[in-house]
Amino acid sequence: MQKAWFYEEHGPKEVLKLGDFPIPSPLHNQLLVEVRAAALNPIDSKRRQKPFCPSEFPVVPGCDVAGVVVAKGSGVTKFCIGDEVYGNIQDFNAEGQPKQLGTLAEFIVVEESLVAKKPKNLSFEEAASLPLAVQTAIEGFITADFKEGENIFVVGGGGGVGSLVVQLAKHLFGSSYVVATCSTPKVEFVKSLGADEVVDYTKTRYEEIEEKYDYVYDTIGMFPLDLVDCSFHSEKVFHIELFFLLTSTFAMDES
Ligand SMILES: NC(=O)c1ccc[n+]([C@@H]2O[C@H](COP(=O)([O-])OP(=O)(O)OC[C@H]3O[C@@H](n4cnc5c(N)ncnc54)[C@H](OP(=O)(O)O)[C@@H]3O)[C@@H](O)[C@H]2O)c1
Repeated sequence: MQKAWFYEEHGPKEVLKLGDFPIPSPLHNQLLVEVRAAALNPIDSKRRQKPFCPSEFPVVPGCDVAGVVVAKGSGVTKFCIGDEVYGNIQDFNAEGQPKQLGTLAEFIVVEESLVAKKPKNLSFEEAASLPLAVQTAIEGFITADFKEGENIFVVGGGGGVGSLVVQLAKHLFGSSYVVATCSTPKVEFVKSLGADEVVDYTKTRYEEIEEKYDYVYDTIGMFPLDLVDCSFHSEKVFHIELFFLLTSTFAMDES
């Protein structure tokens, strides 16, 4: 048996319990991974609080993981026992239900296609912090067809997704100028990620910004609420599709 965090009803964090679960056996194309670090994202708490996506109880929260392969199915080709891997293990079946339990456990099974070898220069904790947020961040650039040399305004540049958007814009997608918003304590942090300019949203109102941007990356769903009819705007405003907007609205509820 193994220990895992789980819940059997929706509600506040008090519904979480630590309990015993069988250690799962990897199927044909799956790995059994001993979890060294797991990370939580807003979706984990939202899913716990309300019936957010169809889920059967018990639910073990957690999408992100870094760990070590300890067993594998006969069809696995890319990994060996002992490999250090990381990834977002959440995948959904045709009914929209998560296929497997989450990562707040000692062991998880995962299809080999959902993980990658952990870079040597990342700790398990650093690696586990990345997958879902960086997938989300990259998806935005690709979906909105971001072009090298464009400038970008990032709403929420100090957050999990936003801090990666700033780094990707500057260091991977070749943005010519990166402006990001955050609160006062995060100004230096966001600059250190590569932002050319940081707007402290506790001191500057969006309505006061006059510049126009090639691309606005909104990680917190502020655009539909606050930025409509502002003088500051762009023809390319990216908010991460319907799913993201739904989750962002919940974020506003929480705040
Ligand atoms: N993390 C993921 O992988 C992922 C995936 C898909 C969708 N999403 C959704 O994307 C949203 C952001 O996720 P996240 O992980 O980046 O959350 P997060 O780490 O909590 O970041 C949210 C950021 O919003 C900023 N913020 C809050 N109020 C603001 C305001 N009034 N004006 C400007 N900025 C404000 C905060 O900035 P300060 O800290 O500077 O105050 C915070 O850093 C959530 O709704 C989440 O459900 C996240």
